Amino acid sequence: MIQFSEKSLSKVQEIIARYPEGKQKSALLPVLHLAQEEFGGWLDVPVMDYVAEILSITPIEVYEVATFYSMYNMKPVGRFVFEVCQTGPCMLRGSDEIINYIKSKLGIGVGETTQDGLFTLKTVECLGACGYAPMMQLGKHFREHLTPEKVDAIVEECRTLSAINN
Ligand code: FES
Repeated sequence: MIQFSEKSLSKVQEIIARYPEGKQKSALLPVLHLAQEEFGGWLDVPVMDYVAEILSITPIEVYEVATFYSMYNMKPVGRFVFEVCQTGPCMLRGSDEIINYIKSKLGIGVGETTQDGLFTLKTVECLGACGYAPMMQLGKHFREHLTPEKVDAIVEECRTLSAINN
């Protein structure tokens, strides 16, 4: 059964309380973030239905939002998700090359996950860090001025982190 932990539930209540009564739908984005974090890094339909129930809105209202934003994953992802910006300024600074480099280094296409479950590659639209192009988001951090060498180092860093935590 899908159920937030006590800690997350109280966080959900705290988020809902930020909005006027009857406007709990406004809490949808942060609650979806919490749900994604707590239920395996992606939003399965039963998870979205659970969020709808908590916020007293219809499931379709949740699906619409969750499928619109690239920060929500609609299928299982790897432990490390490379969200590479592909919008104009990053493209002009070589994001295509970076994306191709990651594809060949990890042996996956965009939207795919490596067989070991470690890495997922996604392309996203402008993340507001154009001055640091080409860039990507990895977890809660931006990785900027990407080059193939930096990608190598980031992949290594992730592998090391994963080995330490296993
Ligand atoms: S275009 Fe890539 S961060 Fe803005």
